[in-house]
Amino acid sequence: MAHGMAETSSATETGGVTELDGLDLVDPGLMRMVGEHYDSEPLMRLAGEIHFDAELSRAEVAAALRVYGRPLPSLVYLPCCGPLRHAAPLLEAGAERLVCVDLSRGALEAGLARNVPAPFRPRLDVRHGDVRAAARALPPGGAEFAFMGGNSLGDVTDPGGHERFIAALAGALAPGGVLVFDYAGGRYAPDAGDGTTEWPELYRGPDGDVEAVDRRRRTLRPLDGTPMAVLSVACEVVEAATGRTVVPPHTYEKLAVPDDVLAEQFARAGLELTDAGPVAEWSPYHRDRIDRVGDLGMLGEPDHWYRAVRA
Ligand SMILES: C[S@@+](CC[C@H](N)C(=O)[O-])C[C@H]1O[C@@H](n2cnc3c(N)ncnc32)[C@H](O)[C@@H]1O
Repeated sequence: MAHGMAETSSATETGGVTELDGLDLVDPGLMRMVGEHYDSEPLMRLAGEIHFDAELSRAEVAAALRVYGRPLPSLVYLPCCGPLRHAAPLLEAGAERLVCVDLSRGALEAGLARNVPAPFRPRLDVRHGDVRAAARALPPGGAEFAFMGGNSLGDVTDPGGHERFIAALAGALAPGGVLVFDYAGGRYAPDAGDGTTEWPELYRGPDGDVEAVDRRRRTLRPLDGTPMAVLSVACEVVEAATGRTVVPPHTYEKLAVPDDVLAEQFARAGLELTDAGPVAEWSPYHRDRIDRVGDLGMLGEPDHWYRAVRA
């Protein structure tokens, strides 16, 4: 049974994570991306990745709660929670229980072990599965507040699946409930040139630290017959000295939806969407880090907060 919470389905729990049904319905492209990118153990060992950056996660929660603008309810829903890096700051801010859903079992397990102190774990209901099949994990009347951090919108790149994803977010909310999320959309478009960026990385390997090079190539292709586009990021990380593979080459994708189109999609799902402006304008931590180090990529300058209210 899920930690400290009533189980409502026949799902099984292992290692603090309960299975949701419906994984067989997830499109193969998304499953491949989750397997190659979000489940990737070597990727989680890169010092520059955000998975275990507690200061960043705390700053995001502090800013998101300001965007939310209401007293924190006892239950918070975290769709696409990944490595659970927002869980502890939300509990510390006053939430009592969290329902956390993600397709990456690797991220959930690593996050439970490293981002959630043991005394907090009984207050989490952690579900491995698709947000579009999460209804049974949520209270019957819906959640008053959902928070989807880390630029998670757009991982479902097929237009029908994307609209079902938004409908599921709407369905998870109580009437008048609010979803706060950040999204870079089309603002994280490739630069002029071939769109390749390369930077030094530190790989915290099982046998010690290894100097590495992280190379990512961004391309943006229009999605035929729609005003949307798909951003593809080809990623490879190699040892600086030898060129040996550290993170196997793979590609991950994001749907880039223009703001006016996004507002229409949310309206169709019964959600009134507001673009609350750049994350960095709500978070002194982000502003400072962008100005000094500039290493936040999709979570940096292009990233905006959005507030969606269910009618
Ligand atoms: C960019 S990551 C952000 C993770 C986390 N929110 C954070 O800030 O660290 C996006 C996450 O969404 C998850 N995801 C994408 N599509 C999903 C879906 N349809 N249902 C559940 N999880 C999904 C991925 O597995 C991944 O962990």
